[in-house]
Amino acid sequence: MAQIKAAITGVYGYVPEDVLTNQDLEKMVDTNDEWIRTRTGIQERHLLKDPDKATSYMATQAVLGLLEKTGLDPLDIDLLICASVTPDYFFPDTGTLICHNIGAKNSFAYDIQAACSGFLFSATTGAKFIESGAYKNVVIVGADKMSSIVDYTDRSTCILFGDAAGAILLQGNEKGFGLQDSWMRVDGVGAEFLHMKGGGSKNPPTHETVDKKMHYIFQDGGPVYKAAVKGMSEAVGQMLDRNNLSPDDIRFVVPHQANLRIIQAVAKMLDFPMERVMVNIQKYGNTTSGTIPLCLWEFEDQLKPGDKVILTSFGGGYTWGASLWNWAY
Ligand code: UT7
Repeated sequence: MAQIKAAITGVYGYVPEDVLTNQDLEKMVDTNDEWIRTRTGIQERHLLKDPDKATSYMATQAVLGLLEKTGLDPLDIDLLICASVTPDYFFPDTGTLICHNIGAKNSFAYDIQAACSGFLFSATTGAKFIESGAYKNVVIVGADKMSSIVDYTDRSTCILFGDAAGAILLQGNEKGFGLQDSWMRVDGVGAEFLHMKGGGSKNPPTHETVDKKMHYIFQDGGPVYKAAVKGMSEAVGQMLDRNNLSPDDIRFVVPHQANLRIIQAVAKMLDFPMERVMVNIQKYGNTTSGTIPLCLWEFEDQLKPGDKVILTSFGGGYTWGASLWNWAY
């Protein structure tokens, strides 16, 4: 019997309406459009401004769109994994809230927290449930309301992030479509350079943690930048070497969108043409768990069955990796 592989059979995204441009940011902090564009490639990002709506709202919209597009009945979802660093609550998990919102009554769900690699790690994890034959329909959704943990007085971070969600459907097939290989790593040395100090069991919330602005993203960008270039190049290189592929064999590399210069440096190190690297950071900024599915959503009409696609990410932790997929539709 042919091996079951887990293919991406649909993708959908949700981006909130409100836009925060570089010009808006010029009025909020000491920055300018030219600095932001040349240092990061970002021109604008979308924010979920409604205080009553959280990450699960955006994820729900993305998954509802995915269900409509693929014609999947929510009752046929077996598992939903939500990747997020901005869950609605510590508990219950966001995946369970999404299942409730969409009526996925026959599913189980959980969240994966791996910073900007959350979607990549979740997609590989979900694929294993399909490959094992245990489940038929697995939904992976990456969603983050980054505006809930961004300090809009800190120019070094507030220019970077946006809010969004993106979802994929994984289904089995015996034709060789889907996940071919993956390589993922973590290194806790990175915790020092990218983290949120407060709110967890190390520094539970108090007046003091709020006064000291400990509930916002802290990033020392320089070391993260270097590690991101090295990590994503290494991971994509692993996919090429282990599968005897050259850049010419790959239709698209789909990198986490943290900084256009990081993406360009990775492409250069791999001798990979930028025309075949998915980029939409200019419109959305860094949406953390949302970046990779949002790229797939935007570029899917440039893909056809059998195209080889490499997803790659790098994030806080550090967490990084890559996965190789045969596109199915
Ligand atoms: O997604 C998770 C992983 N995260 C990443 O991959 C992000 C990795 N890091 C980066 O993308 C970059 O390091 C940043 C975009 C965060 C920063 O870019 P950079 O080229 O590394 O700038 P820098 O931090 O070295 O700062 C250069 C200068 C500094 O001024 P001085 O000390 O040279 O006078 C900063 O204070 O730019 C200044 N600066 C700004 N100036 C205008 C920092 N932020 C701004 C700003 N506007 N928004």
